[in-house]
Amino acid sequence: MHRKTVIEQIEALKKQRDAIILVHNYQLPEVQEIADYVGDSLELAKLSHDVTCKTILFCGVHFMAETAKIFNPDRKVLMPDLHAGCPMADMISPEQLQKEKDTHPHASVVCYVNSTAHIKALSDICCTSANGVQVTKSVNESEIVFVPDKYLGSYVARRVIDKKFYLWSGYCPTHMVFSKEGVLRIKEEYPHAEIVVHPECRLDVQEIADAICSTSQMITYAKRSAAKTFIICTEVGMLHRLKKENPTKEFIPGNPNAICPNMKLTTLEKVLWSLEDTQYEIEVEESIRSKAFGAIERMVQI
Ligand code: 13P
Ligand code: SF4
Repeated sequence: MHRKTVIEQIEALKKQRDAIILVHNYQLPEVQEIADYVGDSLELAKLSHDVTCKTILFCGVHFMAETAKIFNPDRKVLMPDLHAGCPMADMISPEQLQKEKDTHPHASVVCYVNSTAHIKALSDICCTSANGVQVTKSVNESEIVFVPDKYLGSYVARRVIDKKFYLWSGYCPTHMVFSKEGVLRIKEEYPHAEIVVHPECRLDVQEIADAICSTSQMITYAKRSAAKTFIICTEVGMLHRLKKENPTKEFIPGNPNAICPNMKLTTLEKVLWSLEDTQYEIEVEESIRSKAFGAIERMVQI
């Protein structure tokens, strides 16, 4: 008798549960391959905004699944491993943000989507690495409290020069492994390569970039560029899609150790178990959810 493969079982259960599988660009290649959609935080947030099925299975980190739940209080939102958090999101507490708001009472709070639902609930508007500049320009106030990523915040502040920024000091540990010296050493080996950098990287790495973009914007950039070789400064999971969608081009990691351990917690087997047992369900308390909804809805409407 033919025994179903893990992938066949996932496909069958997906139908049974009326589920959609949303997968972030940093996930393991085999997880990306069973996705209905693979994307960056903004694309996945927008997709989850408009779903019609009963269940959303999110392969990414906690804040991404939580964002989907904030949009979909009546649908089941599942994560294959609840331990897949984002350390940057935990670098600011609601108490700390409230204190910051009290210190700058005339400022608008712009929060990076890599934040908890509590933080979103205390914010005026949310942004991602793809739209930080656009979102911040849309805000009327001339003072901005930007949380939690100081590097994305600095990237935005350098491009929105008519506003005063108060930056929180969070950062992504995975993106800290890129250094200007390290990337320039690779560039010596590949002198014709373009350097493509995520805005979570340190500013001196951003300064040597040919392009600074979100993960999905990297794919568009590589497709459109005349260059044949790219040094990629973001989590190494990104290279799978970059290579797949640009088979004639070469992608070199800016540091092969840029691995987000949380993103790698999701495996094919855990996806299967998640659909089998309908766990682990993401819940957001309604009083928090309704406030956080405002911040992300304002973002997707831009
Ligand atoms: P993107 O929105 O660019 O995919 O980034 C998400 C993230 O967590 C980067 O570390
Ligand atoms: Fe968070 Fe960094 Fe991992 Fe992105 S790569 S999920 S910011 S820890």
